[in-house]
Amino acid sequence: MTKINAPKGTRDILPTEIAAWQQAERQFAAVCARYGYQEIRIPTFESTDLFQRGVGDTTDVVQKEMYTFLDKGGRSISLRPEGTAGVVRSYLENGMASWSSPVRLWYNITAFRYENVQKGRYREFHQFGCEVFGADGPVVDAELISLLALFFKEIGLGQTSLRINSIGCPVCRTAYNQLLKAHIQPHLADMCPTCNDRFEKNPLRIIDCKEHKCQPVTKTAPALLDHLCPDCQTHFDGLCTNLDELGIAYTVDRGIVRGLDYYTRTVFEFISDHVGTQGTICGGGRYDGLIESIDGPHTPGIGFALGVERLMMELNSQGVSVATLPVPLIYIAGLGAAAATKARQITFLLRQQGIYAETDLMNRSLKAQMKFAGKTGATYTLVLGDDEIANGEAKLKHMADSTERVVRLDQLAAFLTAR
Ligand code: HAM
Repeated sequence: MTKINAPKGTRDILPTEIAAWQQAERQFAAVCARYGYQEIRIPTFESTDLFQRGVGDTTDVVQKEMYTFLDKGGRSISLRPEGTAGVVRSYLENGMASWSSPVRLWYNITAFRYENVQKGRYREFHQFGCEVFGADGPVVDAELISLLALFFKEIGLGQTSLRINSIGCPVCRTAYNQLLKAHIQPHLADMCPTCNDRFEKNPLRIIDCKEHKCQPVTKTAPALLDHLCPDCQTHFDGLCTNLDELGIAYTVDRGIVRGLDYYTRTVFEFISDHVGTQGTICGGGRYDGLIESIDGPHTPGIGFALGVERLMMELNSQGVSVATLPVPLIYIAGLGAAAATKARQITFLLRQQGIYAETDLMNRSLKAQMKFAGKTGATYTLVLGDDEIANGEAKLKHMADSTERVVRLDQLAAFLTAR
């Protein structure tokens, strides 16, 4: 029989890594709580329609990368390629527009994209994300970015730079698209098929093309940031001022256009040099037209998502010390059947008192139990035999310095808790 491996582009998060993941999850939740963001959990799959209208029909994510299937009822369903569209759907469906503004939500999700797998690029991956609804001022953009900056600081991530840009609104983009197309048109025949495809549908995305032969054209293209309408310019200036006021360093990067269709005005990314070719740890931006595009009332919105696998790779490559799994406070060994039973009872009792305790589950010899206790890294060991049970006391050994002290079994929990 052929061996069954994990599907291409998926990976197991093993117990050896899990403490670091849990720490990141805890720290992200804690920072979000301090900012007044509330957690939301959304479905893993949604109607395909939602992503087509929300994320955008012309994006690679929707055109090429979605896991789409008909369910047994004949509905077209897609695994979520990101979280924003689902959160927006939930915002509308659950009447969150009537909550006091801004509505600020965070999530920790898996997302699915049928991508070319490479370092830092998977088909199933995790995102921490935030979305804010109902506020359009640049103070909101700056607050959201400051949340990320604080999270990175608290988790110990350095060497990451914030890049910001504005891709305007439909008004300035329509005018800009004419300029851009006029710049590209003479060279279009020499450009890649994707650029040719995007030329009519979504010319702004051409700026993002990584093809060598398209670079001379994309690198010299006019930047939308230099052609913003007065309102978008004021918004962008406001963002810069607010970031300056909060002391958050950034670089203006005219090349950031983002891969999803819903963005307006502010777009931003946190970039690192360490994650190979996939240097973007986090990306986000404003999407003031998204809610209307899925039949909601005009509602401004902004958010980001952070790739957790990329965050972990980055923490590792920067040598940031991450959490390790807890070790048992005590290992209780039993010599003989009666002592083994007693050991299991005391272990259960200690666990009820909130103490991480271990005992034998493998019917091991005393020597093998002690060897196992050493491997677990337990702080203390205690050996129970018939005498100890009869006397109600036993020697508690501190493993690091081999010192021993006699403790009464009925006071063991109190001793361990008080230490
Ligand atoms: P995105 O740029 O498509 O934006 O993804 C955000 C982050 O998810 C990326 O910066 C990256 O770290 C991670 N990521 C994306 N694709 C993969 C992959 N195949 N493997 C590993 N990590 C990946 C969004 O998803 C938007 N929903 C962000 C947003 C929220 N904008 C507004 N609100």
